[in-house]
Amino acid sequence: MARILTGIQSTGTPHLGNLLGAIRPAIELAHKDDNESFLFIADLHSLTQIKGGSELRENTYAVAAAWLAFGLDTNRSVFYRQSDVAEVTELAWYLNCFYPYQRLTLAHSFKDKSDRLEDVNSGLFSYPMLMAADILLYDADYVPVGKDQLQHLEMTRDVASRFNHKMGETFMVPKELIRAETQLIPGVDGEKMSKSKGNTINIFDDPSALKKHINKNIVTDATPLDEPKDATGSVVWQLYKLVASESDAQAMAEKLQSGGYGWGHAKKDLLAALVDGFAQERDEFHRLMNDRSMLDAELAKGAERARAVAQPVLQRVRSKIGF
Ligand code: TYM
Repeated sequence: MARILTGIQSTGTPHLGNLLGAIRPAIELAHKDDNESFLFIADLHSLTQIKGGSELRENTYAVAAAWLAFGLDTNRSVFYRQSDVAEVTELAWYLNCFYPYQRLTLAHSFKDKSDRLEDVNSGLFSYPMLMAADILLYDADYVPVGKDQLQHLEMTRDVASRFNHKMGETFMVPKELIRAETQLIPGVDGEKMSKSKGNTINIFDDPSALKKHINKNIVTDATPLDEPKDATGSVVWQLYKLVASESDAQAMAEKLQSGGYGWGHAKKDLLAALVDGFAQERDEFHRLMNDRSMLDAELAKGAERARAVAQPVLQRVRSKIGF
């Protein structure tokens, strides 16, 4: 048995990168064998970027609905909202006191965000210690994430080892789980799909909005209709390959390479794969978004189960520290 843990920030409705890179693989692992799993909505992390109660609350519901629409079984997994387990903020403080300031200055995500965002707050800087607390508070073995979170996992291992070394064995040292095929889903511009880059695909959108977005924003080269096109280097095909069957992806690559099949045709096929392929999840997402009391009840149930695991771990830490 392994304990799996992962979180998604509530900075918006989860996009295709979150869904294929984290939510779907995490659910697969959570439902596999006798794994135990802790899956949560990282709303405390979102506060580094979102300052508005109703927006944050709405996003939290959207993330919860996305997990459930993708089939998460909350009887098998502990599914909760990070802010409902206040123990995590206490542990984050302890970890901050055991981690060198200099090391935090090396975080790529802080450098990247502080270059782009106007609100460069201290929460953004100490973000990796709150993430380490998320993981260490539940004695997690494995953390399924996309490649962008690798450095955060390294910092988590680093702070756990430093604490263990100074204070005696206290924390499990976790490992990341990164799947090669979905570690870095491209956005419509070919860069990593990311909310802050504005290049996301939202599969829960209305199909007509999705169509407009795909036609207008997915980048293609100017190869004329009749000429052979490079499938593997194209964003349309890279995305199609992630959502279509292997044989359909192969067929599109052949059509592109043989000419007479244009980018417009490829976009149409991609749209169909997104609209039809996720029809059930889309319907379920919207049904859940209209059933807030059900989402609240699920999250309340999860918070209670999460706290029951978190409290003894925190107690272990407190007693080592001398509190
Ligand atoms: P967040 O909310 O930015 O992203 C959630 C998950 O989605 C993955 N992801 C992607 N995977 C592949 N391709 C992409 N384009 C892509 N974009 C996002 C991320 O790698 C992540 O797995 N700090 C975390 C949230 C967090 C967390 C944790 C995760 C807080 N505490 C503890 C794991 C364990 C974050 O910002 O993810």
